[in-house]
Amino acid sequence: MQFSSQTAQVGEVGEICRAMADEVEALIKGKAAGGEKVVLGLATGSTPLPFYHELIRRHREEGLSFQNVVSFNLDEYEGLGRDHERSYWAEMWQNLFDHVDIDPGNVSVPPSIFEDAEAAAAGYEAAIREAGGIDWQLLGIGGEGHIGFNEKGSGEESRTRRITLARKTIEDAAPAFGGEENVPTHAITMGVATILEARRIVLMARGASKREIVLRAMSGEVGPEVPASFLQNHGNVGWFLDNDAAGS
Ligand code: GLP
Repeated sequence: MQFSSQTAQVGEVGEICRAMADEVEALIKGKAAGGEKVVLGLATGSTPLPFYHELIRRHREEGLSFQNVVSFNLDEYEGLGRDHERSYWAEMWQNLFDHVDIDPGNVSVPPSIFEDAEAAAAGYEAAIREAGGIDWQLLGIGGEGHIGFNEKGSGEESRTRRITLARKTIEDAAPAFGGEENVPTHAITMGVATILEARRIVLMARGASKREIVLRAMSGEVGPEVPASFLQNHGNVGWFLDNDAAGS
């Protein structure tokens, strides 16, 4: 499959993770050679876990260093402190940062506890800008086509903001929280416009349950009904799909 400015890579999970890690490794090494930092936009959820495993493996076995990496996560549940095991802050440390040599001062996840949501969101946007913008943005996709927590209805101009989680998102998260009643009702997420400013975007999807929504995002009508469809308007997107998500 080849799109105007978009490519799709389909294969076994291990294969697509290696291809994604190759991109990140080349970026890290290329920037390091010039004494520069690389800015990664990272995602949570179950989808990227095997990709993070591959990055950790390269760090341990091949000496890939993350010392010049600056990272910004896409989103965070409102109200969950960093010590809450379901916070995305905690997940990122458990699944990646604790296992590589990233400088803790270079890690950012949207604030989860704030008095002024607009100020908190604006501060996050400003931090991304000050870092020079995102070089490589990883995305998963939600069951209804959300990216980050940009739920159905999120527009192409949306920026980092507080958002009410959709019913489906809460249902999907319920098992991890031990019941729907424990899932936060709000989150803070990078906006669609924030995401589209990344110089390279990689959307990863695994499993047959994502097949239909991936197809709608890649080739359906572009609009807020499926926020991931706005990626069709970006000049440098890679869709990394396992065979089940691609339906092949
Ligand atoms: C959550 C996250 C998204 C993620 C989505 C899919 O809603 N905020 O960033 O892409 O879940 O999760 P999973 O990868 O577990 O299917």
